[in-house]
Amino acid sequence: MGGLAEGAVHVAIIMDGNGRWAKRRGLPRTLGHRAGVETLKSIIEACPELGIRYLTVYAFSTENWKRPKNEVSALMGLLVEYIEKELDHLHRKGVRVQAIGDVEALAEPVRRQLAKAWETTRNNDVLYLQVALNYGGRAEIVGAVKALAEKAREDGDFDIGAIDQEAVRSHMYCPQTPDPDLVIRTGGEYRISNFFLWQIAYSELWVTPLFWPDFTPAHLERALKEYKDRDRRYGGVENA
Ligand code: FPP
Repeated sequence: MGGLAEGAVHVAIIMDGNGRWAKRRGLPRTLGHRAGVETLKSIIEACPELGIRYLTVYAFSTENWKRPKNEVSALMGLLVEYIEKELDHLHRKGVRVQAIGDVEALAEPVRRQLAKAWETTRNNDVLYLQVALNYGGRAEIVGAVKALAEKAREDGDFDIGAIDQEAVRSHMYCPQTPDPDLVIRTGGEYRISNFFLWQIAYSELWVTPLFWPDFTPAHLERALKEYKDRDRRYGGVENA
């Protein structure tokens, strides 16, 4: 592996299929999520070698609260356990860990671990790992609109005509992060599920029927290879 992608490649992953993976094995869904954490670990390890500088994983959406209480608390527990066990290792590997989403609404032990992960790793730059938690693309855009409206209210000279894409972007959770080059969805569904609505305007999509626990670095490598062979025109024409 190695040298497949140049520059600051951003891969965003919708890690779907943990529940079905577990069901096929007659296991509780929560064990599917536990297996999903193992996959996440192996994918994080593989990113630097594959030229991936930014990795965003969709771990919990604003809609996931609708799941049974025990599943929600198992997911939050896994997150806390993951950070407790892996933080030193991630730090040694130069991974910066940042949560994106409405993190304030999460339980205190989860917020504490996320804050610790950020404080420990904030100066790392080998891999920027963004964990989307209580994240919703629409909520993020609503937040940006509210922030701009607030500015307009506070500043009598605010020029509404000057609101442009950069102004909106500057109020997203992570304005410094480049838009994803590639969005991978496991589990076979062809939808975005309220993930990164603003940021994926020109992202390439790669969907695999594999369940997330069955996804490996070799699959990631294949997805990147296929992405590199695609012709990204950003609304223009080829070799204009
Ligand atoms: C979707 O599978 C997966 C999730 C809602 C959670 C993803 C979480 C992890 C991989 C582990 C926890 C993350 C961290 C960062 C510790 P699903 O349950 O919707 O699967 P299904 O579509 O087969 O039911």
